[in-house]
Amino acid sequence: MLDTYRHKVVLIGDGAVGSTFAFSLLQSTNEIDELVIVDRTKAKAEGDALDLADITPLTSPVKLYAGDYADAADADVVVITAGIARKPGESRLDLVNKNATILKTIIDPIVASGFTGVFVISSNPVDILTTLAQRISGFPKERVIGTGTSLDSLRLRVLLSKKLHLSVNVIDALMLGEHGDTSFAAFNEITIGGKPLTTLTALSSTDKAEIEEAVHQAGGKIITNKGATFYGIAKCLSAITRAIIENRNIVLPISAPLDGQYGIENIYLGTPAIINSQGIGQVIEYPLTADEVEKMRQSAITMQEVLANIEM
Ligand code: LAC
Repeated sequence: MLDTYRHKVVLIGDGAVGSTFAFSLLQSTNEIDELVIVDRTKAKAEGDALDLADITPLTSPVKLYAGDYADAADADVVVITAGIARKPGESRLDLVNKNATILKTIIDPIVASGFTGVFVISSNPVDILTTLAQRISGFPKERVIGTGTSLDSLRLRVLLSKKLHLSVNVIDALMLGEHGDTSFAAFNEITIGGKPLTTLTALSSTDKAEIEEAVHQAGGKIITNKGATFYGIAKCLSAITRAIIENRNIVLPISAPLDGQYGIENIYLGTPAIINSQGIGQVIEYPLTADEVEKMRQSAITMQEVLANIEM
């Protein structure tokens, strides 16, 4: 028997992203007592619960089982990965109506369960679905988080590392805006070992355009090659979940509620935020150039248009 209570996480959607997230989370933190897996194919959830339980002697003791929405009642975090995934050639926005409908069938029973924790969402288009999840649930905005540009920012760092021949670990760089085709790199704010990149070297405008384009193409390229992307996004999900569970107060680029930052309101978009046990401790308004603010606004306009036309 465990004698001290730690935390409970419920995963909704046990596809490639969901199961990889569960595997990653169990290896990332010792602060979880229960991990519940919910999937419309219950046998898959049961199979993964059994398979993942086998790693717990090497990680830490966690009760794993296939459950349902009612198990969210006393959970700290509900992670939602459920939804139709992109097929080769599709954009994230192509999925919107189908995934908004699926999202509603998930959020309603979870709220009805009495859940009072934090939602973390990765289903695409993530900024739209996170905005909808907050509206449908009526939760305080800080208790609904999307993966946003967390993955795009990692991809940017990998690309910069190759270009600059520097370890990816010393590069701090962010993609902002939509997790999708209108995201942009905050090039002026990149730091290398804490120093502005601009004091060390200069990227040409061609370099910048190529790098940004490569970030935009990255997910599609993986889908063309192997049918799905999951390691990257699953790791982002487990980093966010761990930050909540462990009250880490770390800064991550996520889909966060904008309420006046960058002159944008009433929508979730990729921007850095402090993550702790409350969910979003604080949205950080990055000091962007006028050009970058304009890109952020364009991203928001695209998102608002999609939101206005959702049929569910
Ligand atoms: C990707 C998916 C998560 O970019 O949208 O890999």
